[in-house]
Amino acid sequence: MHTPLCDTLGIEFPIFAFSHCRDVVAAVSKAGGFGVLGAVGFAPGQLEVELAWIDEHVGDKPYGVDIVIPGKYEGMGEVDPVKLEQQLKDLVPAQHRAFAEKILADHGVPKLPEGEAAQQLLGWTAATAAPQVDTALKHDKVRLIANALGTPPAEVIEQIHQSGRLVAALCGSAKHALSHKQAGIDIVIAQGTEGGGHTGEIGSVVLWPEVIDAVAPLPVLAAGGVGTGRQIAAALAMGAQGVWTGSLWLAVQEADAPPAQIECYMKASSRDTVRSRSFTGKPCRMLKNDWTQAWESAESPGPLGMPLQYMVTGDAVARGHRYAEKAKDVMFNPVGQIVGRMNSVRAVKDVMYDLVQEYLEAVERLQGLGA
Ligand SMILES: Cc1cc2nc3c(=O)[nH]c(=O)nc-3n(C[C@H](O)[C@H](O)[C@H](O)COP(=O)(O)O)c2cc1C
Repeated sequence: MHTPLCDTLGIEFPIFAFSHCRDVVAAVSKAGGFGVLGAVGFAPGQLEVELAWIDEHVGDKPYGVDIVIPGKYEGMGEVDPVKLEQQLKDLVPAQHRAFAEKILADHGVPKLPEGEAAQQLLGWTAATAAPQVDTALKHDKVRLIANALGTPPAEVIEQIHQSGRLVAALCGSAKHALSHKQAGIDIVIAQGTEGGGHTGEIGSVVLWPEVIDAVAPLPVLAAGGVGTGRQIAAALAMGAQGVWTGSLWLAVQEADAPPAQIECYMKASSRDTVRSRSFTGKPCRMLKNDWTQAWESAESPGPLGMPLQYMVTGDAVARGHRYAEKAKDVMFNPVGQIVGRMNSVRAVKDVMYDLVQEYLEAVERLQGLGA
């Protein structure tokens, strides 16, 4: 499983694991893979706390940080995060807030306690991501910054490169991959539609070789639907230099998800996800539930764009997390189709062991087929 990228980053296995949870990130890197912390939900002060924790718990292993600077979003161009937030708040129609509130009330989801407010503007603008990059680059063990939803701006790429780190970017088509390459990105992450979170329309088996051929010789990581060693073998056979995974790590022992949410993931089959704009404003794969259906219904005012929709739904996400048992049918459960195989809660090191073991078996099986 050793590819050139393993030597570049000093890792044993080219298994990249995206997670918002610091414990998962540290555990994956310690198990020989490469953990990547999703920074989008952290204000810079909190991100500093998370990264300091990882530094302390990851030993001498490297890890990465993932930011979100979309290619297109409402309010683009405003670089002051405070001004941007106010400007965006003024654009949210009252009708959308009322619709979201009604869904929660109909399901008996309590309001947040007095004085506790949900975050409305996440790190998914250039204005809010810039301080996250500054914070990440202060940590020596951070060896890679990845960006979702677009090619990062030239000055961000330059800043990361000048600090001696690699830049990666996710894509859902060969066209996106080529624009990453032209911008000077070091690693392209090709994510098929079956993946969890924001995702495009092309399936992994079609997308991966298309992107690999389009950007060669740039290294490509295969993402979207990877949850077994057999799929890793397939990705490397197609020419990927590793795999980039997300869903798999939502239901490990180290993850911080509420038990009611883990239960939703455990019960779901591969048919139970949907690409929906109902939480973030951009197509994002998640479990289908009453919330996603309500936003598709005739009464729905229709989701707003990014980042406006989350200014409406941030409250629902926070209430869902806090009152997970009551909010089971309306919670934000981003996950990919591989959820159908997520049937038990295991430690990160056991998941890693099985991935590697199954990969080896798959390679042996192929070798047994001869030339
Ligand atoms: C809960 C969840 C949240 C995600 N959030 C982000 C994000 O903030 N930034 C990002 O680059 N990718 C995000 N992703 C996508 C992952 O980075 C990864 O590409 C995807 O999970 C791969 O497909 P898989 O889920 O089938 O493994 C998210 C995925 C999940 C499941």
